[in-house]
Amino acid sequence: MAHPFLIGENMTGGYGAVDILHSCTLAVEKGEIAVIVGPNGAGKSTAMKAVFGMLPLRSGQVRLEGEDITKLSPQARVRKGMGFVPQTHNIFTTMTVEENLEMGAFIRKDEAIQDTIAQIYDLFPILKEKRNQAAGELSGGQRQQVAVGRALMTRPKVLMLDEPTAGVSPIVMDELFDRIIEIARTGISILMVEQNARQALEIADKGFVLVQGTNRYTDTGAALLADPEVRKSFLGG
Ligand SMILES: Nc1ncnc2c1ncn2[C@@H]1O[C@H](COP(=O)(O)OP(=O)(O)OP(=O)(O)O)[C@@H](O)[C@H]1O
Ligand SMILES: [Mg+2]
Repeated sequence: MAHPFLIGENMTGGYGAVDILHSCTLAVEKGEIAVIVGPNGAGKSTAMKAVFGMLPLRSGQVRLEGEDITKLSPQARVRKGMGFVPQTHNIFTTMTVEENLEMGAFIRKDEAIQDTIAQIYDLFPILKEKRNQAAGELSGGQRQQVAVGRALMTRPKVLMLDEPTAGVSPIVMDELFDRIIEIARTGISILMVEQNARQALEIADKGFVLVQGTNRYTDTGAALLADPEVRKSFLGG
């Protein structure tokens, strides 16, 4: 991986004295979709937090477009073009849909925020319909659309998603994946953790299988789907 668009390379660190990540590497190229899968507790969310600057690293590096950003705060990374949708608590439930989107634009000083909101309503038309409803009243899939929309408000170059389809039906999952593909086609890189490993690897340019805080398999999505060992251990056969 010479010059990926975004890379967290050989990341080691954890919470306090105990390391969760052991020389873990995640990366995504420009406009591509990279998917991270692995068992519960493997450290997928921890690795995402590390890439976004929410976890101090004992060693390793994070680089965006070749620049070392390892020491930058999450907010500084947002200014550099990173967006992150965490696994939990990713919307303001008591605020309306539109207020959530406006909150997402917190770092922006320009006047074009309404244009971006309009683009997000084009991408997720149901959000326009529900713009004045409290986000907490929406269905699971709609709430995830709010969370993704909120992260898009800073017009990121790379969008990091931690289990965007958690708790939604297979139909809603397919729809969300279609929207994620659409976002990637606009040139935004997607780095995404997914519980629905098989379906996610089908749309992935690159896949990472993490186990116990370290990389077990790294390949194209297609190659991982075709690998008998990966299938047996991580994709239910
Ligand atoms: N805030 C925290 N403080 C201490 N330990 C934590 C914290 N968050 C996670 N851990 C521990 O770190 C390890 C990895 O957790 P992490 O949430 O990164 O896994 P995951 O792969 O995202 O799991 P899941 O599939 O359930 O989302 C687990 O052993 C977990 O208990
Ligand atoms: Mg997780």
